[in-house]
Formats: sequence, structure tokens, C-alpha cells
Amino acid sequence: MSAYEQLIKSGNKFFLVFEDLTNKIMTSKYNPLYYHGALPQFYLWVLYLSGLLLFAYYIPTVDNAYLSKALINAWTSVEYINDSIPFGAVVRGIHRYAGDAMVITILLHAIRVWFTDRYRQYRWLQWFSGIVLFVMVLFIGQTGYYLVWDERSLALTRMTVYALEGVPFFGPGLKEWFLNGDTISNYTMSNYLFIHIGLSFALLFGLWIHYVRMTRPVMTPPPAINYVLMALLLVFVFMFPITSGKMASLNGPPPTGFEMDWFFLAPYALMNSLPSALVYWLVVAGITVGACLLPMPWSFLIKEPPVEAAEVVLNKCVGCNLCYLDCPYQAIEMVPAPANSRFKLLATVLPYRCSGCGVCVGACAFDAIDLPDLPDANVLAQVKQIMEAK
Ligand code: HEM
Ligand code: SF4
Ligand code: SF4
Repeated sequence: MSAYEQLIKSGNKFFLVFEDLTNKIMTSKYNPLYYHGALPQFYLWVLYLSGLLLFAYYIPTVDNAYLSKALINAWTSVEYINDSIPFGAVVRGIHRYAGDAMVITILLHAIRVWFTDRYRQYRWLQWFSGIVLFVMVLFIGQTGYYLVWDERSLALTRMTVYALEGVPFFGPGLKEWFLNGDTISNYTMSNYLFIHIGLSFALLFGLWIHYVRMTRPVMTPPPAINYVLMALLLVFVFMFPITSGKMASLNGPPPTGFEMDWFFLAPYALMNSLPSALVYWLVVAGITVGACLLPMPWSFLIKEPPVEAAEVVLNKCVGCNLCYLDCPYQAIEMVPAPANSRFKLLATVLPYRCSGCGVCVGACAFDAIDLPDLPDANVLAQVKQIMEAK
């Protein structure tokens, strides 16, 4: 057994023990491990809803003094939400902590599918799209911090500009794109808002790709789990209320020391404390590791006998759709039956998507679909033998 197989086996064992323990505490109906994909999805809905409420009062400008005697900009609008809108601070806190919770639950989900070996073969698209989704989530979270327009936002903006300027060849273009012009201006803030909201909606497209090959993905935990997830968020909101730093000042002295969020701002925190050359190499290493994760479904292959795809017995299939509805991996297509058939449709298996799980065999009431390497008749004979032996 290769070292990689050993690692996966140990990870799987750990999850089984942990699963057993959590089942004893929470019962299998409410065990969050069985809803690992649904947890980040839940926090995404919370982010959309809380983000929508914040958007109602947020003003994406650096300086809007010409429209009003009092200065109105992104920072003052966030302060207004925090201090003057009923429950504004709570909504802001929920939005902030739901972002962190989403990162944690995505990591849990990814580790779970990895260690339970549910990411290869016909699941490659979920893995691949999952990595892209995760990178998008990290970037969306980062842009959220730019939007507040406090000293931290300004420092992050300057650090990003500094880093982009260092990118060979594309540097000036990237800087111009990031700032939406040559310098920090009101257009910079609209760009941040555009990226933050635009990418958040692009997540939906990414999720559609993530789910498209799964027939019945578990996307919603039972209400009781939702309440607990929400209660956990509120505990953080009230115990550690969110505040902004001082308003950013383009002409003032550079800010000294501000709070860093390790979930979204880790590269900046490193930039703050390590020499830039080292951070540069750490970021390059991070991107390389991320890029190496993408082809994981095809790497370190665990040796298994090849899967024989299910086969339809053409003269028995009545085109009833049942196997098509039940197949977990969208590996069955219903195509028009040949002209001489009494039926309208015929099931066809797409071998490259078939996992050989046999669900379709159980679904078919007409013995019209079977697994070549494990025929239905053999399974029945084995079951009969076991029953007779008892
Ligand atoms: C925005 C973040 C994500 C959300 C909301 C999400 C959601 C989900 C959901 C709801 C499922 C169905 C789970 C089930 O039916 O049991 C799923 C499956 C899956 N996800 Fe994600 N996911 C996300 C990110 C990721 C990431 C980062 C990875 C891995 C790098 C990943 C890999 C997978 C795989 C391999 C499956 C198939 C698992 C199976 O068939 O048991 N996902 N995801
Ligand atoms: S064995 Fe049947 S149900 Fe399972 S993946 Fe293949 S076609 Fe779908
Ligand atoms: S369940 Fe059986 S009869 Fe119905 S479409 Fe599938 S293979 Fe054909």
C-alpha cells in the first residue's frame, strides 16, 4: 500500500471514529458531518441576506463632500449602519462572522470528501469546481475588508498596489484595474463593491457547476442544525462586536498596527511581519499548492479494479425513467427509442460518469439494467444463500 493510500485510510478511520462519537452525542439525524456540504451553503445564504441589508445603507465612496455639508463616504456609512440603524451592528457582525464560518466549513467539507475518498473519478468536477469556489470565497472576503474604508482598508489597498506593481509585465495593468484608475478615488470603491458583489453572484454559477452532476445533493441541513449554526454566529456577534478602525486618510500618516483576520487576510498579515521577498515566495508556494490540488482526482491514484459501467438490456427497457431519476451521478440519459419500439424512450448509460454503484439496478422494475461484473441474478443468489444459512 502506498504512503498516500495509508494517509487516506488513516484519515478515513479518524472520520469513522469521530462520526461514531458525534452520532452518540447528536444522533445521526442531527450529525453535522452528514451535512458537510450543506454547512457552507447555509452560511452563503446568510451572507447574501445580511449583505443585502448592509447594501441598503452602504455608500461606496472615499469622499462625497460635494453632495453634503457633512462628509459622507464608505466609512461614515458603515458607522451609520453600526450605530444608528436598528440591529445594524448585529447584521454587520453576522455578515462578518458568516464569512469566517463559511471558510471553516468549506475546509471541513473539503477534508471530509478527501479523507472519505469521495473526490475522484466521477466526482472530479465537484472537486475541481470546489477549489475554484474556495479561491473565489477567499477573494470575496478580502474585498469585504477593503469596503469599510478605515485605516486597515487603506493599508490593505496600498499593500495590494505594492504587490501588484511587482508583478512582471502585467503589473501596471493590474494596478490600474484594481484601483479603477491611476490613484485611489471614488471609482476605486465602486470597483471594490463591484468585485465583492459581482463575484458573490458568480459563486452561484460555480455552485451550479458543483451540483450539476449530483442528482440529489444534500444542500440544506435540518432546521435544528440551522438554528444551532445561527446561534453560534450570534454568540460571536455579541461576544466580539465588530468595529471599524479610524477613517482612512489619504494624506495622513500611514496607520500603525491594526487587527488582522487570518481567514481572509493571511497574506497581508505575513506582509506586515515578514520581509517582502519571503512573503512573495510564500504566496508563490501557496498558489503552487493550490494549483497542485486541482488535478488531485487524477493524481496518486489508488489501485482499484476498473469500474464496469452499468448496461441497459435494450429489449427489456420500457423507458420508465426510474433509473434516470435515481442515478446519483447523472450517468443515465433518456434518449428517443428506436422507431420500431413500442416505447417512446430508452435508457442509455454514459460509461465515463458511471460509478458502478448499482442504484439503477435496484430502481428498475423490469430487469432492464445490470452491472456486467456483478449481475443482479448473482446478488440475489448470494442474498438467498446467506438467508438460508441463517
Ligand atoms: C462554496 C463552497 C462549497 C459549497 C457550498 C459546497 C457544497 C457542496 C454540497 C451541498 C455537496 C453535496 C454533498 C452531499 O450531497 O453529501 C457537495 C459535494 C462535494 N463537494 Fe462541495 N461545496 C463547496 C466547496 C467545495 C470544495 C472547496 C471542495 C474540495 C476541494 C468540494 C468538493 C466536493 C466534492 C468532491 C463533493 C462530492 C462529495 C460526494 O459525492 O459525497 N466542495 N459540495
Ligand atoms: S451504476 Fe447505475 S446508478 Fe450507479 S452510477 Fe452507474 S448508471 Fe448511475
Ligand atoms: S428503470 Fe429500467 S425500464 Fe425504466 S428506463 Fe431504466 S432501464 Fe429502462
